[in-house]
Amino acid sequence: MQKLFSGIKPTGTLHLGNYFGAMRQFVELAPRYDCMFMVADYHSINSLRDPGELRAGIIDIAAAYVAIGIDPAQSIIFKQSDVPEHTELTWVFNSLVSVSFLMQAHAYKDAVANGKEANMGLFDYPMLMAADILLYDTDIVPVGKDQQQHVEYAREAAAKFNNTFGDTFKEPKEHILETVAVVPGTDGRKMSKSYGNTIPLFGTKDEIAKAVMSIVTDSKAESPENVYAIHSLFRSKDDLSIIYTENKGKYKALKESLIEDIEAFAAPMREVREAITDEDVRNILREGGERARAIASKKMAEVRTKLGVTI
Ligand code: TYM
Repeated sequence: MQKLFSGIKPTGTLHLGNYFGAMRQFVELAPRYDCMFMVADYHSINSLRDPGELRAGIIDIAAAYVAIGIDPAQSIIFKQSDVPEHTELTWVFNSLVSVSFLMQAHAYKDAVANGKEANMGLFDYPMLMAADILLYDTDIVPVGKDQQQHVEYAREAAAKFNNTFGDTFKEPKEHILETVAVVPGTDGRKMSKSYGNTIPLFGTKDEIAKAVMSIVTDSKAESPENVYAIHSLFRSKDDLSIIYTENKGKYKALKESLIEDIEAFAAPMREVREAITDEDVRNILREGGERARAIASKKMAEVRTKLGVTI
């Protein structure tokens, strides 16, 4: 069976962009692949400095994997920091790739363009992600468009190592669905925690309603395009054509219809989520961490031998 790997950072609240851009693909592909779903906790510390928030975020992501329909008995659900081979392999890749190559990364370039002082964790982010993916002989990586470059960096790191030390890593491919590659937020830009334009995946109905009511509309247009764009995640073109013709110009009614559709879709997952305890999550992550480590340690032993540090 081919191998699938993906991860989510435990920062902020999961939103519809995460779900439609990536998580829905996890559930759809899971029966056909050997899957690993990671909580990318070490990736989050380049910006997150609050231990309580990080702990809660880790639990939320792990529980979300289960709530959307991933079976922890089949797929491996684990947390990055439980498998030290990830950071170890990062160091190896750091020693192979050039600084100028990493300076081309979008996240780093954006930080610099916005006048932020980038820490080394942000700069090196693509190499930690390359280690995540490559340790497990991954074939496909389902992600949204914003992560495409990171998977390209992983291929590059694999090729660099293989060329120098012999065939060791498989070159992975990103799996991006074009229709949901960039899910728009309430202001029409990409839905993103950092833009404050998100609709929460596990929010209460009130939270969903508040976010939908804040969708930016152009009062001169016949149809509110930002509402329509999000609505099309839930309904076919034909369905929407009836609803949007019947309610031409009635933005409030259209937003209310969208709220009902999101609520109908989100409520069952929210219920499953609420039944998962922190203790359940700890057990899932403990077991998943052990399974992941068994695989990662074998790969890392091969890497050490090839490097020459095993004598
Ligand atoms: P993260 O936590 O930012 O996002 C998780 C997933 O959600 C997707 N996504 C979107 N897709 C479409 N439209 C949007 N508006 C949208 N917003 C978010 C992201 O593309 C992603 O697939 N670096 C990763 C986490 C990671 C990882 C990995 C992923 C760490 N190691 C190894 C895959 C493989 C990240 O920060 O995703």
